[in-house]
Amino acid sequence: MGASRVIGLPAEVKDRERRIALTPSAVASVVDRGHRVLVQTGAGEGAGFADNDYKEAGAELVASAADAWAAEVVVKVKEPQAGEYPHFRDDLTLFTYLHLAAEPELAAALVGAGVRAYAYETLTERGGLPLLAPMSEIAGRAAAIVGAEKLSAAQGGSGTLMGGAAGVPPAKAVVIGMGVAGTMAARGLRGLDAHVTGVDIDLQRLYDHHLDGTVDATQISEPAAVADHVCDADLVIGAALVPGARAPMVVTEAMVTSMRPGSVVVDLAIDQGGCIETARPTSLSEPTYVEHGVVHYCVTNVPGQFPRTASAALSAAVAPRLLRLLDDPDHPGLEGALNIAEGAVVHPAVAATFPDLPSRD
Ligand SMILES: NC(=O)c1ccc[n+]([C@@H]2O[C@H](COP(=O)([O-])OP(=O)(O)OC[C@H]3O[C@@H](n4cnc5c(N)ncnc54)[C@H](O)[C@@H]3O)[C@@H](O)[C@H]2O)c1
Repeated sequence: MGASRVIGLPAEVKDRERRIALTPSAVASVVDRGHRVLVQTGAGEGAGFADNDYKEAGAELVASAADAWAAEVVVKVKEPQAGEYPHFRDDLTLFTYLHLAAEPELAAALVGAGVRAYAYETLTERGGLPLLAPMSEIAGRAAAIVGAEKLSAAQGGSGTLMGGAAGVPPAKAVVIGMGVAGTMAARGLRGLDAHVTGVDIDLQRLYDHHLDGTVDATQISEPAAVADHVCDADLVIGAALVPGARAPMVVTEAMVTSMRPGSVVVDLAIDQGGCIETARPTSLSEPTYVEHGVVHYCVTNVPGQFPRTASAALSAAVAPRLLRLLDDPDHPGLEGALNIAEGAVVHPAVAATFPDLPSRD
């Protein structure tokens, strides 16, 4: 067993964010390994976990965010918000989603304060992203529900029902990026009997989806072909990712302009800057806006509205990797996670995004 460490779980402060990164049972497994866990009072409430559940799991309840942030290692869900930057210090280790490609001020604040910052979304294992995948799964499923709902006339959409009716063809949906989020979105849309086209740059991935029937049609990601599908789509879901980098711009403003009024775009990739040119970040309080007659839903914390499922799924993925980090900050099982250390950007894709920030390999 490694040295005993102090871990802090502050309550999330992002708009309507109700997740927590560790459930009481995950906290119990960390405490069992000889560590102390400080949980801010009420931090688990939004996800259905009472203070007493954490106490019984062996956590110590602390009254303020500052008390939780005073721990050696802070474990969170969303990237720190501006009001949390004053908690940064050079002996702090942070383990959370960071999405720095879309957060230049956060990147500069972490570098400036000398925080050792690990990002969930870039931790790589066997070619996958195990700490991004659970939230992408939930966001993808949610995107299908939200997209279908926003197409209703009551929500400002064109009044098109996903599955159509006898003698009326189904709605057309296009999913950009058929990874974890895109696959779950496509499954949800197929479940509603929409016609779904999956777009990706990875031909093998499209081949697999083509064979297993996740989508009705597949399309390699080339601008002219994407434009042909988008102009005819009722719903476009953006879920393209290049890990650590700004999202690739796949759907241009001209393509959005070509869509029918009342059509809907949901850009999940907005947390990495967006893969739809007209997308800009929205919140759970004000999730949509209309541009070129098209309803845009670009919420950066979609799973935050399903905190019970999302916290349990995130915690299951975070807890074993947190134990590795507590044992050894350079543990080989944390490959790709370290974004910032000792006042420099150390993740190559993040460093390429911020050439003006100090960086090292
Ligand atoms: N908004 C939210 O609340 C929320 C929640 C969870 C995940 N996400 C985001 O959703 C995005 C997708 O995550 P994921 O886990 O599914 O990633 P993933 O790596 O599993 O899949 C991404 C896919 O995009 C494809 N891609 C890359 N470049 C492309 C291009 N130019 N055209 C078409 N496809 C391209 C890749 O080949 C891959 O199949 C990420 O930005 C992630 O952060 C957002």
